[in-house]
Amino acid sequence: MIFNNISLIWCIILYFTNFCQLSFFFNSNETLNIPHKINKPYSFTNDELLRKRNEVKELIDFAIDSYMDYGFPFDEVRPISCVPNTRNWDDPNDINKNDVLGNLTVTLFDTLTTVAIMGDLQRFKSTVKLIDDIYSPYNYSFETHNVTIQVFETTIRILGSLLSAHLYAIDPQKKVYLGKDYDKNPFLLVLAQNLADRLLPAYLTETGLPYPRINLMTGIVGIPEDHMLENNAAGMASPMFEFTLLSYLTGDSKYEMITRYAFDKIWETRTQLGLIPSSVNPQDGNILGLMTGIGASIDSFYEYALKGAILFDDNKLYQTWDQSYNSLKLFCRNDWFYTNVMSNTAQLATGWVDSLSAFWPGLQVLDGDLEDSMRKHLLFNKLWNEFQAIPERWAFNPIPENIISHEEDGENNGENEYLYSWKSIIPLEWYPLRPEFIESTYYLYRSTRDPFYLNIGYQILNDLKTKYKTKCGFAGIQDISTGERQDRMETFVISETLKYLYLLFDESNEIHNTRDNIIFSTEAHPVWLTVKMKQWYGKNRFFNDTIYIHHLNRCQRADNYIRQIDDGQFENQYLRFRVNNENDLVKRPNFGSCPNYMKYWKVRREETNLLPYSQMLSETRDLFEIETRYQVSFPKTGKYNAIELNPSFYNQWSTPKYSQSQKKSTIEVFELMFSFSNDYVPPTIELEKDEKKNNRTIYFHQPYGNKNFHVEKIIPGKIDTYGKDIGIEYLFGADLYNHADPRCNREENQRGASMVYRAIIADGIRLQENDIVVINGTEIKPSLIKPASSSFFKFEIGSLDLGYNGANQLTLGCIPLNNVYLI
Ligand SMILES: *[C@@H]1O[C@H](CO)[C@@H](O)[C@H](O)[C@H]1NC(C)=O
Ligand SMILES: *[C@@H]1O[C@H](CO)[C@@H](O)[C@H](O)[C@H]1NC(C)=O
Ligand SMILES: *[C@@H]1O[C@H](CO)[C@@H](O)[C@H](O)[C@H]1NC(C)=O
Ligand SMILES: *[C@@H]1O[C@H](CO)[C@@H](O)[C@H](O)[C@H]1NC(C)=O
Ligand SMILES: *[C@@H]1O[C@H](CO)[C@@H](O)[C@H](O)[C@H]1NC(C)=O
Ligand SMILES: *[C@@H]1O[C@H](CO)[C@@H](O)[C@H](O)[C@H]1NC(C)=O
Repeated sequence: MIFNNISLIWCIILYFTNFCQLSFFFNSNETLNIPHKINKPYSFTNDELLRKRNEVKELIDFAIDSYMDYGFPFDEVRPISCVPNTRNWDDPNDINKNDVLGNLTVTLFDTLTTVAIMGDLQRFKSTVKLIDDIYSPYNYSFETHNVTIQVFETTIRILGSLLSAHLYAIDPQKKVYLGKDYDKNPFLLVLAQNLADRLLPAYLTETGLPYPRINLMTGIVGIPEDHMLENNAAGMASPMFEFTLLSYLTGDSKYEMITRYAFDKIWETRTQLGLIPSSVNPQDGNILGLMTGIGASIDSFYEYALKGAILFDDNKLYQTWDQSYNSLKLFCRNDWFYTNVMSNTAQLATGWVDSLSAFWPGLQVLDGDLEDSMRKHLLFNKLWNEFQAIPERWAFNPIPENIISHEEDGENNGENEYLYSWKSIIPLEWYPLRPEFIESTYYLYRSTRDPFYLNIGYQILNDLKTKYKTKCGFAGIQDISTGERQDRMETFVISETLKYLYLLFDESNEIHNTRDNIIFSTEAHPVWLTVKMKQWYGKNRFFNDTIYIHHLNRCQRADNYIRQIDDGQFENQYLRFRVNNENDLVKRPNFGSCPNYMKYWKVRREETNLLPYSQMLSETRDLFEIETRYQVSFPKTGKYNAIELNPSFYNQWSTPKYSQSQKKSTIEVFELMFSFSNDYVPPTIELEKDEKKNNRTIYFHQPYGNKNFHVEKIIPGKIDTYGKDIGIEYLFGADLYNHADPRCNREENQRGASMVYRAIIADGIRLQENDIVVINGTEIKPSLIKPASSSFFKFEIGSLDLGYNGANQLTLGCIPLNNVYLI
């Protein structure tokens, strides 16, 4: 099925409404629930899921009540000591705390939409009334708040919440619709606009990129410089989403224009590799952090490129997402996670994965990239197995503290023992109950209906009840290695963690059964725009605030000036400006696994006429590869208390017919990077007619930009990446003798030919065993090959020459890659 961009987005939206499944693949009278007659603890019947949902509701009510009893009117409740957690008034430099806690009853705001999704009209009304009582005496203004807070955090937690709650309040279809009285005085929107007006001056910088912080009463006056002159990519780009929505709801387009300008400018900071540096000085445009990845400091740039594209029907945002995702696939995507690299060189920057990046699989679901989503999500499942938490940072390549050499004591033949401390395995050891893992679990369940994800939800629910619940709320963990707790409940625990868990079990939630394109903000506030709202904004939008008109004009003049004088000398030093020509933008090839996956369920049901089984559990033959490969980083061997091996779940949802593990690979894998001229063009995939063979051909028709391959060394007697014993027949497919390069036809080369190579990942696409890669070889010259960019792969290919043989297979140092052909 071929999609163009627009219909791809359409399909994405339908994921959320389940319409995709219903209309394409199921009879309308089939229910969306997994039918299951046997009533066991993991049968996931409607009744059972409803019970779990109600258990989550109890936890949510308990958390909100705790806040109201012991925290309100301050920002948070301390869940262990049952007192408010307040801003640090004594130390304005305590930005860790003060960025979020503005003495603004943040938890109260961030709770609103969790109450709304539960359809709890009574509590929604009383919460909204409380906000009315607090702010009506001040004419719904934040002007009396003399506090410096972070623009990003305040936008996602308070502004986003107010906008979402407002949408709920005015929608007669929703359970928490507030009726005519609210329509007459929509003060949630008024408050939102007042807050936005106080945040927006942060954008009045030389570059148009926002300062990280602002004072709600006094603006930028008097804030120390070292709190102002560095801001990260996510912080500068993300407010675009909430502010643009505010423009749609008020008609005043200045919120959109100003924040969108900053968003686009962050995209313009990308390097030649299409990667975005993590931090910039908003006053002079100096790039301060060259590292990039998908986690902290940059995560919601990607999130809002895609979500903005869907919410605002914005093709340009979609193309920004698409291009940036292509670059990430090339330079950051690995087998089980994305790595942090330097945005200018693509060199591996860190040996760890951060907790925030657990949101990524959910975003991949929105884009229809289910196959990779399921694999990337699995790592976080393994971390939960190991720690019942997600460490803020987890090292896949930990550095040993001590090396005990047995050579010295004369006992061993030169073998060393390495000692890894907890600090080396989890360099940042806390877990404040962040939502990202459960968020991705929710998205994956909505799109696959694989009970695997419900089982994860059960485990998390159980851990919340037994491990995280305290006297007055839910306490995060300060140190995973010791179990030490944090006396803190961040607002996202109610706003996101518990909300996604509730929704995971709430099959019949109104947002699962609507045709509106509901999108969750990065703080999990559901937002949507109806066709009517979009039309209204199209007709009534205005931009007449002279301060911002002048500011935008000035920024744009400065851009033009720099464009004229930029002869390349500014690279990686100042913002680089690209004229975004529509023709430069590349179209995404169809990797859309949405329809294929949905079809899978249908086929299974028809074929077997049995209950479906868990595909993740049963058909992922390398389900335990992660903890085997990264053994050192899983010291407690999570395998034995794995969620997926819980006996009742396993016995019920695995199928002996398909469930088997593959053998552990014993061959070396290395990474290759090709650099061609011109901008990157992504490959296209063509399926053979006989889909059962799973034989795909991946075409690189344009030899442009960088290409990244992971290659394995096929040596008879070893076990390959797919768990197969390598027999001598693997060598038959390769033409070992007939080379284009005369140096390769020397006799010693022929005698030495006892192995071949095989590509296993091409530009981030995981190749199946029979897949074939075809490259347009017009530009391939030996000089174009570079050694692996990451120290992570031990095998160095160094000076191997590139060429091709008589079968047109690509060769490295005369040895063919037997699944890579040139045309
Ligand atoms: C913080 O908020 C509380 C409750 O609204 C208020 O009583 C108190 O005066 C505020 N503190 C400061 C320093 O503004
Ligand atoms: C609220 O607005 C009214 C009418 O504009 C004004 O009279 C009153 O002083 C304002 N109150 C505050 C606290 O600003
Ligand atoms: C705001 O608070 C600061 C101290 O944090 C104080 O110096 C300043 O005078 C206050 N400004 C106003 C207008 O209240
Ligand atoms: C800006 O335009 C809006 C809508 O037309 C109008 O209500 C408002 O008064 C205008 N403001 C200024 C300062 O011109
Ligand atoms: C896969 O496709 C290629 C190209 O069409 C074909 O030559 C090859 O025989 C196929 N392999 C299998 C295992 O079907
Ligand atoms: C290979 O690339 C060249 C240069 O872009 C192009 O002209 C040619 O058509 C391509 N060939 C194939 C078979 O795609």
